[in-house]
Formats: sequence, C-alpha cells, structure tokens
Amino acid sequence: MEYAVKEMISRQDIAARVEEIAAELNADFAGREVVFVCILKGAAVFMADLMRHLKLDMSVEYLELVSYDFTESRGKVDMIKDFDNDISGKDVVIVEDIIDTGMTVNFIGEHLRAKNPASIKYCVLLDNPVRREADCTNPDYTGFVIPNQFVLGYGLDLDGKYRQLPFIGSLVKV
Ligand code: IMP
Ligand code: MG
Repeated sequence: MEYAVKEMISRQDIAARVEEIAAELNADFAGREVVFVCILKGAAVFMADLMRHLKLDMSVEYLELVSYDFTESRGKVDMIKDFDNDISGKDVVIVEDIIDTGMTVNFIGEHLRAKNPASIKYCVLLDNPVRREADCTNPDYTGFVIPNQFVLGYGLDLDGKYRQLPFIGSLVKV
C-alpha cells in the first residue's frame, strides 16, 4: 500500500493555538510552582514551542514512553525513561502530543500520582475523541480536536519518521 502525507493543520494555525494555550496556562498557574512533564518523543516539539510562551515559576521534566507500532496500538505502554527530581507537593502539567484511546495518559497519571504531586493536569496538542476508551482521562487543555485519522508531523511520528514536518498531516492511501 502506498501512502502520502496530506496537510491537516498548518504551522501558522499550530503556532497561534500554542500561544493561546500558553496564555491559559499563564493565567491558571500564576503565582504557583509548576512542573511540566513532557512525554517523549512525540511532545518534544510542542513542549519546546509552548514553553517559550510560558511566564511561570516552572521546570520541565521528560518521561519517555512507547505505546505504538506503526499505526496500530500495541495495547500496552512501556516506560523507557523516568526522571528523579522531586515533584511532591507541586502542581504538575503533563504535556502530550495526542490522546487517542487514553491509555497512555492514564498510565502517566498513575505513574506520577505515586510521586505525590499537589495536582495533575493534562495538556494535549491533539485529541482524537472517537477512539477514547471508557474510564480514560479527558484532557484539561486541548490544542485541536481531530477526526479519527492517523496523524504525523510536528513531533508525531510514523515508525520514527516525519517528526520534523512543521505542520500536522494525515496519512492518506494513494
Ligand atoms: P493512546 O494511548 O491510545 O491514547 O495513544 C496515545 C499515544 O499514541 C501518543 O502518545 C502517541 O505517541 C501515539 N499516537 C496515537 N495516535 C497517534 C497518531 O495518530 N499519530 C502518531 N502517534 C499517535
Ligand atoms: Mg507519544
């Protein structure tokens, strides 16, 4: 099967929305100490753009997970890299590229709750709600709600490729 990438969200639209989300976070967390937890590798580009608009007392930690083989969910999440810094008593914002079934954010939430933060919020660039499973967390901050299609670019990959695209594209069969 041959595939092509079709632009779904332009770099200009992403940049504008990232700025809006940052403004919301700046307002909601003003005066508090926040730890942003970026989920590698997919959220690296989103985090890098988002944090340059944040005016908060903040730090950034990185967790690396794997949950996908090509476009199919493997049905389980593996943690490749954790972080050591203490987040107990602090407000945490998880920054993720996309929420699909919700399995990944549920896994992250459980993992971070064990570190005793004061609160946990979920900030995702993309939401594919059609695939959400029951009992899965819904995001507190969402960039774009997308139709049920496999997407890539702006950090998101297909088998490790396409992360460098400045826009978000969908995969179409040709
Ligand atoms: P979930 O666990 O089903 O919610 O899937 C979320 C994770 O799967 C994200 O962290 C992504 O890494 C990956 N993922 C889900 N949908 C896509 C997609 O359309 N393109 C690329 N990666 C995806
Ligand atoms: Mg990911």
